[in-house]
Amino acid sequence: MTAGHGIVIESVSRAYSMGGGQVIALDAVDMNVAPGESIAIVGPSGSGKSTLLHLVAGLDRPTSGRIEVFGRRLWEMSERELTRMRATSLGYVFQDPHLLPGLTALENVIASRLPWRGRRDLAAEARELLAAVGLEGRTEHAPHRLSGGERQRVALARALLGHPPLLIADEPTGNLDAVTTDDLLRLLGELRRRLGLTVLLATHDAAVAASADRTVRLAGGRVVA
Ligand SMILES: Nc1ncnc2c1ncn2[C@@H]1O[C@H](COP(=O)(O)OP(=O)(O)O)[C@@H](O)[C@H]1O
Ligand SMILES: [Mg+2]
Repeated sequence: MTAGHGIVIESVSRAYSMGGGQVIALDAVDMNVAPGESIAIVGPSGSGKSTLLHLVAGLDRPTSGRIEVFGRRLWEMSERELTRMRATSLGYVFQDPHLLPGLTALENVIASRLPWRGRRDLAAEARELLAAVGLEGRTEHAPHRLSGGERQRVALARALLGHPPLLIADEPTGNLDAVTTDDLLRLLGELRRRLGLTVLLATHDAAVAASADRTVRLAGGRVVA
C-alpha cells in the first residue's frame, strides 16, 4: 500500500436499525485527508466520531457511500482483506490502552501482530518503538506497574509496530491529565515527522485538536463548517 492517494471519504452514511426506528450516526460525510496530514475530528459525544474512524479502519461498513484508504477501495474488499489491511497498514489507539495484564510492556507491543510475522524481528522493532516513546527502561514492566501516560505510550508503540502509514486514534488522551496529554502530543508530533504518518484523531479536547494540521467538526453525524 502506498500513501499516494491519502484518504477519500465520499458521501458516507451509517444508519443503525434500533427497534422499529433508525439512528443516523453519519449523514453524507465528505472528507479528504492528504498523505502525511494530521486531522482532528471534533464534536460532542454522539456526533459520529467513533463511527467514522471505525469505517475508515474497515471495522464497519457504511450504509451508503465509499471510502478509499491509500488507493484501496474498501467497498470492494472482503472481510479477510480488511483484516489484513488493519494488521499491516494501520495502527489504532483507543481511549483505554487495553493492555493485557499478564504480559510485559514489550510483550503487549508484540502480541497483537504475532500471527503475521516472525517473533524475532518483531521483538527488535518493538524495543525500538518503546525507546521511541521514551520507555526503554520499562520493557519488562507489567501494565499495573506503569502510569496511565506510560500505558498509553505502550499502546502507541503497539499501534506503530510494522510501520503502518496511517494512525487512527479515538480520544487517545481522554483518560490523561493535561501534562500527560501534552507529553503524548509532543511524542505523537515527533513520531509523525519521523515516520511520515498520516493521522486521524478524534477528540473533544481543544488543545489536542490544536496540535493537528486541520480540524473537521461533526455535529449530529454531519460535517459542519
Ligand atoms: N452499534 C450501535 N447501534 C446503535 N446506535 C449506535 C451504535 N453505535 C453508535 N450509535 C449511535 O450513533 C451515534 C454516533 O455515535 P459515535 O460514533 O459513537 O459518536 P462519538 O464517537 O462522536 O461519541 C450516537 O447517537 C450513538 O448512540
Ligand atoms: Mg466516540
